[in-house]
Amino acid sequence: MTSESAPASDHDSYGCPTPPNESAKHQKQSQFQSQAQESKYDPTFTDRVISATGPNAHTRLAQVMPSLVRHLHDFAREVDLTVAEWMAAVEFINACGRMSTDRRNETQLLCDILGLESLVDEITSKQLSTPGSQLTPSAILGPFYRHDAPLLPANSSIVFNLTPSVPWYDQAIADSAHLTGRVFSSASPQKPIRNAIVDVWHTAPNGLYEQQDASQPDMNLRGRFATDADGRYALYCLRPVAYPIPDDGPAGQLLAMLDRRPQRPGHIHFIVSAPGHRTLTTQIFDARDEYIDKDSVFAVKDELVVRFVPRAGDERARWSLEYDFVLGVDGSGEGEGEGEEGTK
Ligand code: BEZ
Ligand code: FE
Repeated sequence: MTSESAPASDHDSYGCPTPPNESAKHQKQSQFQSQAQESKYDPTFTDRVISATGPNAHTRLAQVMPSLVRHLHDFAREVDLTVAEWMAAVEFINACGRMSTDRRNETQLLCDILGLESLVDEITSKQLSTPGSQLTPSAILGPFYRHDAPLLPANSSIVFNLTPSVPWYDQAIADSAHLTGRVFSSASPQKPIRNAIVDVWHTAPNGLYEQQDASQPDMNLRGRFATDADGRYALYCLRPVAYPIPDDGPAGQLLAMLDRRPQRPGHIHFIVSAPGHRTLTTQIFDARDEYIDKDSVFAVKDELVVRFVPRAGDERARWSLEYDFVLGVDGSGEGEGEGEEGTK
C-alpha cells in the first residue's frame, strides 16, 4: 500500500503507516519474509545499478558499494518503502547535517544510537588483535574528548577547584575515588610499560562534561598521567554517573519515536598510548549503574564493567578501583614493541 492510497489516519506525520494492532504487525512481518523469497519488484534493477560502476572506480569503493547498494535496495523492498517515507529519511539526514558543527556531530550521534560506531569499533579492533591475545577491549571515543588535557603528577586529582559552593559538592565527596592500575604490553610474557600515557576524562556529578557546563573550570575532570617503572598510573577522580547523550536534535527525536532513553551508564573514558604499541581508546563502566544494560550507544562490554570498593584511611577518597590495561604491540609481531619496559 502506498502513502497516496492509504487513509490519512493510518499514517503519522512522517508519512509512516501506523499498524492498528499487533496482528497487523505480524501480518506485515510474514509479508516481508515471503517477499525475500519472491520479489514483486523488478528482479534486474539492483544488478543494473551495481554494474554502472566503471572500471576506474576507487578500489575500496568498488569493493564495498555493491554490498551497500544491495543492502539498501533489499531494505527498501523488504519494508515496501514509500516515497513519503524515503523523503522523511532524507530530511532527517539533512537535519542531522544542519545541526552538526565543529562542536557537535549529530550524524555521528545518529550512528551511535544505531549501534554503528560500537560495531565498527569492534570490527576494527578484531582486525588488529591476534588470536589468544588478552588485549583490553576498546570502546568508542564519543564526542567530548579534548586533546590537550594537562599532564599531571601521579596521584593528582582531576577534580579541580572543588569547594562547598560547587552545587554537586556533596555528591563529589560521596563519590570521591582513587583510581590506579598498570599498563602492560601484550608481548608474551606481558611486561609493564613505563611512560605510557593514560589520558582520562569523565563528567561531573551533574552529568555534564566541562565544555558543556560554563560553571566548571577549564579541563575539569580531565588529565593525562604517565606510568612509572612498574607501569603504574594513579589519580583521584569521581565515581561516574549516568547522563543523557545530547537529545535536543534529530537523533534525540528518533530515540523518542523509538521509545528509547538517551542515558549512558556512568563511565570513565581513557586513551592509553605508549611508543611501539597500538593506542587504546576505551571506557570503564560502574557496575552499580541502573543503566548498565541500557547504554543508548551500546558500548558496554563485560570486561569493561568495574566494581569500586570502599577505601579506608584516605581523606581524599571514599572509593578505590584498580584497573589494568593491556596494549597490543604495534606492527606485525607480538613482542617487538619499542615502548620502555618497566620492572616486572
Ligand atoms: C560519550 O560517552 O561521551 C558519548 C558517546 C556517544 C555519544 C554521546 C556521548
Ligand atoms: Fe562519555
